[in-house]
Amino acid sequence: MEHQEISPAILYWGTPVVLISSANDDGSANIAPMSSAFWLGHGAMIGLDASSRTTQNIARTRQCVLNLASDDMAAAVNALARTTGTDPVPAGKRTRGYRFVKDKFAVARLTPQPSRHVACPGIKECPVTMEAELVATHTMFGDGSAAAAEEALILAFEVRILRVTVHENLRMQGEGLCNRVDADRWKPMIMMFCELYGLKQGKLAHSNLADIDEEAYRPFADLSRKGKIEAVDVYVDVDADVKVVQEANSERAHELGADNH
Ligand SMILES: Cc1cc2nc3c(=O)[nH]c(=O)nc-3n(C[C@H](O)[C@H](O)[C@H](O)COP(=O)(O)O)c2cc1C
Repeated sequence: MEHQEISPAILYWGTPVVLISSANDDGSANIAPMSSAFWLGHGAMIGLDASSRTTQNIARTRQCVLNLASDDMAAAVNALARTTGTDPVPAGKRTRGYRFVKDKFAVARLTPQPSRHVACPGIKECPVTMEAELVATHTMFGDGSAAAAEEALILAFEVRILRVTVHENLRMQGEGLCNRVDADRWKPMIMMFCELYGLKQGKLAHSNLADIDEEAYRPFADLSRKGKIEAVDVYVDVDADVKVVQEANSERAHELGADNH
């Protein structure tokens, strides 16, 4: 097949849909669907429009919850699409048909779930929730100057994950597996070129990368949390097997170097 040069307006090749919950300044909660997110260790980078209520909430409170949508949540995601918690609606969004919605939980028929380490609630219906705190703010498309940062249209927030919860049915069963997610059961919603997709056909093939013991990655998770909260709930129900693997892996962290893939 020959390649042909194109100039796409967007490069949304496919990333999971995240419903970010954050705290408004009056103490109520906001939700925004987004998909410009990636994960490294126990950190994440999330790209957000600077004019969004969510962006302002995270900048102010330095907290949020990243709730991952599953492939059966299209109705909720579509109910949230083209809404904003900003009143009045910013001009750019107004021309794209956005409207102000104060109570995003109500409009999407979602249920708030109390968080442990952050003030804003998570979303009960999302099979995965991650409480997070802001580590650093990066401006996109500028020259790095303070003036460019002031006028940035898009911000990339680096956040540290403080606590992970998953629906019970996503957990692997068996000794030493209590912290593992069963990837065959996890059905994320994927946004590609603004359309919503699922992974209905399941696993494509076995990956050689998956032959690495998953616990070998834990030192990088520890690194991302270094010096932070004492009570780390990611280690829920850690049993003896997992602890043994952890100890062995802390020595292997240096050998693995910076590239953990
Ligand atoms: C599926 C989906 C994915 C989206 N991805 C992003 C994204 O990655 N970054 C972003 O800034 N906005 C994204 N949006 C648009 C935001 O939801 C939109 O800016 C919204 O107004 C934010 O709400 P808020 O102003 O209440 O925070 C996405 C919308 C949908 C429906």
